[in-house]
Amino acid sequence: MSTIEVLSTIAELHDRLGQARDRAALTGGDTRIVLVPTMGALHAGHLALVRRARALADIVVVSIFVNPLQFGAGEDLDSYPRTLDADLAALAAENVSFVFAPSAREMYPGGASDTRVTTGPVGSLYEGAARPGHFDGMLTVVAKLLNIVTPDAAVFGQKDGQQAFLVQRMVADLNVRTVIEVVETVREPSGLALSSRNRYLDDAGHTAAQALFAGLSAAVEAAPAGPTAALAAANARIGSQSLVKLDYLVIVHPLTLLTVPGDYRGPARMLVAARVGATRLIDNVSLTLG
Ligand code: PAF
Repeated sequence: MSTIEVLSTIAELHDRLGQARDRAALTGGDTRIVLVPTMGALHAGHLALVRRARALADIVVVSIFVNPLQFGAGEDLDSYPRTLDADLAALAAENVSFVFAPSAREMYPGGASDTRVTTGPVGSLYEGAARPGHFDGMLTVVAKLLNIVTPDAAVFGQKDGQQAFLVQRMVADLNVRTVIEVVETVREPSGLALSSRNRYLDDAGHTAAQALFAGLSAAVEAAPAGPTAALAAANARIGSQSLVKLDYLVIVHPLTLLTVPGDYRGPARMLVAARVGATRLIDNVSLTLG
């Protein structure tokens, strides 16, 4: 277990990363920095991102910041789980050296950033339709974090598939030099995708939520018969759980994230979002439509 340094200001972070780079330069070495952006409340899914980062990096920086800009009115900004001590213990056990945990004031000294990153059209679909402004707020903070840390790579989870897609688009469109790595979703043995919001679920909700992955798995099996069969299989499985209120269930092309036509054959992703009680959950899988 390593000693973890928790830095709460951008100046401190620059100072410490500068020292690390200078040390490496003295010995003719390279310092590869990889960022794992998080909002804390870390679980095994985040730790999988950290492990991927460690495999790529000399220095891993994990940011912990509950970004107000990506929460809409009536969403769970105030109640979002904040578990800094437990997060730091988990990261120390993963030998992370730097945690950047700024205040909202440090990130948005003027109260909010005047300049925002705006998504293209894909940002207003699916999660973007359900949560207006969410992706602009997310991209704005990710752009700020990439500019603050200037990492060689940054690691995101496939569970938030539309987020990962939009971050990759932003980096390509704005010529950001950071490579975006996407790590496969970590699941409970039941198949439920790990999420910081799972802790909102009571026992009945937790059982009901398992229908999401069961539905996605049914779609993967039905996929050789085409998109209509895959959607029907997932709908039937998810619809059998009365506690699950489906928001969207779509099959999209992996390169555009736009829905595929009924006669489409080839690689695709199925995206799902649903409410289980007051908790909104999302998941996705890749499938091959035959
Ligand atoms: O996925 C998340 O936890 C957040 O959206 C992120 C990428 C850390 C930006 O706030």
